[in-house]
Amino acid sequence: MPDLTMAPPPEGLLRERYGDHAPAAPLRLNETIRTLLGHRSVRRYLDEPLAPGTLETLVAAAQSASTSSNLQVWTVVAVEEPDRKARLAALVGDQKHVVQAPLFLVWLADLARAERLSAQAGGGREGIDYVESFLVAVVDATLAAQSAVAALESLGLGSVYIGGIRNHPQAVAAELGLPPRVMPLFGLCVGKPDPERPTSVKPRLPQEAVLHRETYDPAQADEAVARYDVTLSGFQRAQGMAEVAWSKIVADRLGVLKGLNGRERLRAALESLGFELR
Ligand SMILES: Cc1cc2nc3c(=O)[nH]c(=O)nc-3n(C[C@H](O)[C@H](O)[C@H](O)COP(=O)(O)O)c2cc1C
Repeated sequence: MPDLTMAPPPEGLLRERYGDHAPAAPLRLNETIRTLLGHRSVRRYLDEPLAPGTLETLVAAAQSASTSSNLQVWTVVAVEEPDRKARLAALVGDQKHVVQAPLFLVWLADLARAERLSAQAGGGREGIDYVESFLVAVVDATLAAQSAVAALESLGLGSVYIGGIRNHPQAVAAELGLPPRVMPLFGLCVGKPDPERPTSVKPRLPQEAVLHRETYDPAQADEAVARYDVTLSGFQRAQGMAEVAWSKIVADRLGVLKGLNGRERLRAALESLGFELR
């Protein structure tokens, strides 16, 4: 794949991603990086099945992600049956795209497989109930899912993550037949984007907010957030959306318990799914 380091700046791509606040340094662009920078969530799909082999390709990409100590403590359940998608859509807050997408993937932190094989080998389970083991599974599953997203976008497909899967984790676990110590983390709708309903790239924070050199610098981050509020307001205006400062969105979401949309009960849900989290 050619390295296009010296190519002229991709004005469109960077402008969409950063508004007026693109990094000053020239980016090193190639096809892979263009695909990553062009990401946008897609919530409208064509009513068409995915090409044969698509699911297996996405899972191969997911499995190619790094995994802590090669433990591979994640699983994904692929849901294509319309009735099951409809029941899951109801559980995630009536999100229509879950029904409309030909494929709905549920990504799982899975300590059950490791626990089973240890038991089969006559081993113990002392390490299973710790926060560390749960985090390993969450990190592994997340890296795998995002590799699948990069792969599907490179194929011209679109997707949207569904955090609503954590609204009712026990009901999702029952629907999918999950054993104890398997936790649904997020869903992913996958389909061919409907060209009649195109989606825009949503600008991100200036790099100064997320990239600190050598040591952490809150003042630098806060200054960048103020610039981002302006950029995102412009994006909201262009999209015909209500203009709300991003910093207010974050404050509203995390500043009051209501912002968690019922997911403040997650600790109890995790316990009932067999995660002690010591
Ligand atoms: C873990 C996770 C959960 C999400 N859950 C939902 C969801 O339940 N419904 C939805 O419409 N979008 C969901 N999203 C999509 C985000 O809203 C979206 O990624 C964000 O607004 C940035 O937009 P972009 O992906 O188009 O760049 C989720 C994203 C992530 C990473």
